[in-house]
Amino acid sequence: MSLNMIDIITKKRDGGKLTNEEIQFFVNGYTDESIPDYQASALLMAIFLKHMDEEETLQLTQAMRDSGDVVDLSRVSGIKVDKHSTGGIGDKITLVAGPLAAACGVPIAKMSGRGLGFTGGTIDKLESIPGFQTTLEPDDFFKQVDELGIAIIGQSGHIAPADKKIYALRDVTATVGNLSLISSSIMSKKLAAGSDAIVLDVKCGKGAFMENEDDAAKLAETMCKIGNSAGKRTIAVLTDMNQPLGHAVGNSIEVIEAIECLKGTGPDDVLTLSLYLAGLMVYLGGKAESLEEGEKLAKEALDSGTALSVFRRLITSQEGNPRVVDDYSLMPRPAHQADLILNKEVLSGSKFVCGEADVADTSKVYYIAEIDNQRVGIASQHTGAGRAVKDEPIDPSAGIIVHKKIGDAVKMGDVLATFYGNDEAKVANALQEAMHIYTLSEAPVEAPLLIKRTIE
Ligand code: URA
Repeated sequence: MSLNMIDIITKKRDGGKLTNEEIQFFVNGYTDESIPDYQASALLMAIFLKHMDEEETLQLTQAMRDSGDVVDLSRVSGIKVDKHSTGGIGDKITLVAGPLAAACGVPIAKMSGRGLGFTGGTIDKLESIPGFQTTLEPDDFFKQVDELGIAIIGQSGHIAPADKKIYALRDVTATVGNLSLISSSIMSKKLAAGSDAIVLDVKCGKGAFMENEDDAAKLAETMCKIGNSAGKRTIAVLTDMNQPLGHAVGNSIEVIEAIECLKGTGPDDVLTLSLYLAGLMVYLGGKAESLEEGEKLAKEALDSGTALSVFRRLITSQEGNPRVVDDYSLMPRPAHQADLILNKEVLSGSKFVCGEADVADTSKVYYIAEIDNQRVGIASQHTGAGRAVKDEPIDPSAGIIVHKKIGDAVKMGDVLATFYGNDEAKVANALQEAMHIYTLSEAPVEAPLLIKRTIE
């Protein structure tokens, strides 16, 4: 019997289980444009409301993976390990963990994305390094991974094209936030990118897809099952995204912070998470017997300067200026900056979880209780560091340095954050929008736990 979309939509609308053939019919038909947007939208909404089980989710992932190129990395020797973050604010971990794992002998053939909306992308960050090329011919890509141990390029348009179309449709039909749709979307691209093992950094908190830990754990478990069923060893780590990672949110300022981490002097949270994830990559890459040993090797690569030297050579190999590592003035510099200062206006408009503002008492100490992390991401985008629509140009020098984070003590006159960019009006507007990103407390506050759990 021939398949048709009305029957498939009806079946899912009534809570039925789709067969592999039905899932493939939808994915292939939507990719080759024989199925119109309105039928695809109806099916996505039916999936959103009635869900897919594990088998359907795996089949959907495989159909999307097979809709385009599946990279064959067998020419590169060793166990290739990929790393993916579900998206965060100030997330420069790939720039640190990648060189750390490569310095321990794990081949990293990484395809990364650009930023969109309030989250940034590794490719935009790397392109802020003068000259850095994020497109390589396949032969050059394989050769660089073989010789240097790491290459990072932009994801080609031929990887999981079905996901590209379906994701764009989900975005405008209120069907993004479904476990099966998110996990199949992420994992179809990871499976197509050709690595042998995958480390997933699943974010939870205010700046993440999943705000609460239980939902993030379900997403992590689903993605691990998909990866492992497809023959790729997959481990996920649940990590906090209630505040930016490190202090820098933007592009060139994040690269500088990543270099500081590779020198061992960057912020503790970025260093801790990078070493943990690199340790997992080293373990999955077969270079360590355990995660603990992997982390120890990653730390040695950090302390010996080997990882920094890998990063320097990565820049050289992809035509960037490696001297930025020693001289940050060679990175794009913003023409304007503006400070968010804890003054009367900011204090009197701030939210409090405990106690209240006393604008007359300039010596009173407050503690940062919460940060509206999503607003930090949006404000960073509005400085010029991010884009609202695909292909919009960005200002590589723009962004925000978040000086004060959860648990920090502050008093009147302290600089909470600094906004940067080449467009003075954008910098001023972004600062205005972010006036009340901080919730304060009179009682001391503990910083959130960064690494919550590891799921295999
Ligand atoms: N990232 C993706 O690639 N897809 C989703 O559905 C959500 C996050």
